[in-house]
Amino acid sequence: MKTAVLGISAYYHDSAAALLVDGEIVAAAHEERFSRKKHDSGFPSQATRYVLEEAGIGLLDLEVISFYDKPYLKFERLLETYHAFAPRGLRSFLHAMPVWMKEKLFMKRMLWEELAAVEASRRANGESEVEAGELLPKAERPPLLFPEHHLSHAASAFYPSPFERAAILTMDGVGEWATTTIGEADESGVRILRELHFPHSIGLLYSAFTYYCGFRVNSGEYKLMGLAPYGERDADQFKKFRRLILDDLIDLRDDGSLLLDMSYFDFATGLRMCVDKKWERLLGVPKREPETEITQPYMNLALAIQEVTEEIVLRLGRTTRELTGLPHLVMAGGVALNCVANGKLLRERLFDDIWIQPAAGDAGGALGAAYAAFHIWKGEPRKPPVAANRSMASSTPSSTSMPSSTSVASSTSMPPDRMKGALLGPSFGDADVVRIMRKYEAPAARFDRFDELCIRVAQLLDDGKVIGWFQGRMEWGPRALGNRSILGDPRRPDTQKTLNLKIKYREGFRPFAPSVLIEESSAYFELDEASPYMLLVAPVRQERRQPLPPGQGGGGAADGLGMLERLYHARSDVPAITHVDYSARIQTVHRETNERYWKLISAFKERTGCGLVVNTSFNVRGEPIVCTPNDAYRCFMRTEMDYLVIEDWLFDKSDQPTWDERDDWAAEFTLD
Ligand SMILES: [Fe+2]
Repeated sequence: MKTAVLGISAYYHDSAAALLVDGEIVAAAHEERFSRKKHDSGFPSQATRYVLEEAGIGLLDLEVISFYDKPYLKFERLLETYHAFAPRGLRSFLHAMPVWMKEKLFMKRMLWEELAAVEASRRANGESEVEAGELLPKAERPPLLFPEHHLSHAASAFYPSPFERAAILTMDGVGEWATTTIGEADESGVRILRELHFPHSIGLLYSAFTYYCGFRVNSGEYKLMGLAPYGERDADQFKKFRRLILDDLIDLRDDGSLLLDMSYFDFATGLRMCVDKKWERLLGVPKREPETEITQPYMNLALAIQEVTEEIVLRLGRTTRELTGLPHLVMAGGVALNCVANGKLLRERLFDDIWIQPAAGDAGGALGAAYAAFHIWKGEPRKPPVAANRSMASSTPSSTSMPSSTSVASSTSMPPDRMKGALLGPSFGDADVVRIMRKYEAPAARFDRFDELCIRVAQLLDDGKVIGWFQGRMEWGPRALGNRSILGDPRRPDTQKTLNLKIKYREGFRPFAPSVLIEESSAYFELDEASPYMLLVAPVRQERRQPLPPGQGGGGAADGLGMLERLYHARSDVPAITHVDYSARIQTVHRETNERYWKLISAFKERTGCGLVVNTSFNVRGEPIVCTPNDAYRCFMRTEMDYLVIEDWLFDKSDQPTWDERDDWAAEFTLD
């Protein structure tokens, strides 16, 4: 009998479900991709149903179900915090308590009700009503575990990693009490060696700046990181901001631990992140209102907090190395999505190698909770990683579509982790595509030979066309990695603008990310390591850079150019993916884990000499990444995308029937 373990994260943000069978990940998915509600925090009913279906099992076949944190400890933290700050937090207390009393304290009962509803819908398969209450008799229910939040993060980082033994660093906003932990793990389990406790939190500090700069907390952190390169490192204002953060807002210790001056922060007891008026007095800049123009002071503020964050991460990295003495590091927690800090930590060479869980945020807690239940609670040993999924290799490889160097050197191999390239979600076949064609009367051409499709798409990209690229299993984690992506030509100076205005419907200030063949990566970027999950930022190589207009240096605004003018100035021979400070957020593409995507980029290289494409997630602003062919077709038709590929089918926009649905995107999806 196989041992199946279900992991769940829910009720905060980014709910998800993950399923292990005998310690191997069978499926993992975010609820938002099914519910079409970005950062969906509800119970992951559809994701749970999907992971069970992928394994062909029901809830009663599970050995154990593991929830990603301890609700009672969280409740204790809330009560103690309110007590310590009373009467300051009365308003927030009254706001939070009814939710806690009604829902979260009855977590077990609520989880069983939700699980029973999932089981009912699974058994009925949507055709008839099945009575949920009778489905899961108490005596037959698998045990329900609640590992601590940071143990879930730690387990999600270590168990799927390529390392036998590793140091662990987890950093986020907060779980129950912990906000940062340092630990180590090997075959005997995970040991947490140090913890930093709420309210002192690197994640909440970063989120406070996210809020103050006018972005949404728990989703806009990425924008703040992308804004930082516009800051002026030589400007007095930037230096002042940096000093004020270190002198007034926080007390940063040598070991990377920090204390926040809580008179400046409101998140412990209030409904906001910080005390706006006090920040304004300190910084001399008011809070930026969302959707208003982003002016230089906010760019300088973004750079200041980004640099302080990098300093904290480096110090924590040093402490982790000293405490554990281990040469390999694994990371998780929302702060581990700060790929600029990750790149700096890697370049510091404190560790021989670093591996980061692709779903480093709270969704990844579902996977970590499942691993913790399997390896720690059940005491099952770790097996060697399973060979990468080669199920995509169905088409005949063409010698003409290979890059000049097809031999994969060991340094360019995918690290043998257990994530299967993070392609862990649902996939769809020919029948699903044909259904879409019928439903929308949509003509499409089927390519029997995949290499011919690659050659055609490479030609379209070379012609400046924008392509929706949908194939195989949906990605796990916040990034599209070539299975639900929109692709463009990185060499064209207008690709940025086209993608921003015609597809994403935003005037984004962040450049797009490159998907680069691992074999070509070091020819473009100062990066010798694999970055398969787009979690590392590294500089574009010196020889590819182009000179800047007079007066504009290092990303600064010395000559008064607006931020978009700065972004759209071609800074390298791959301008669409080069940020104003010459950095790029890199995804290396590996034949072992995504053969089709690797072949497509190889075909583009064969045609153009360029071994990378622009990869942005397949969605519009505020919409979760598409999940099904139906989502993909709708997104294709509602934007100015030129072509859509779903599996072996190519849809040409000019052949499609008129799309009369003229709905308001902003009304359907809340802006992120
Ligand atoms: Fe977390």
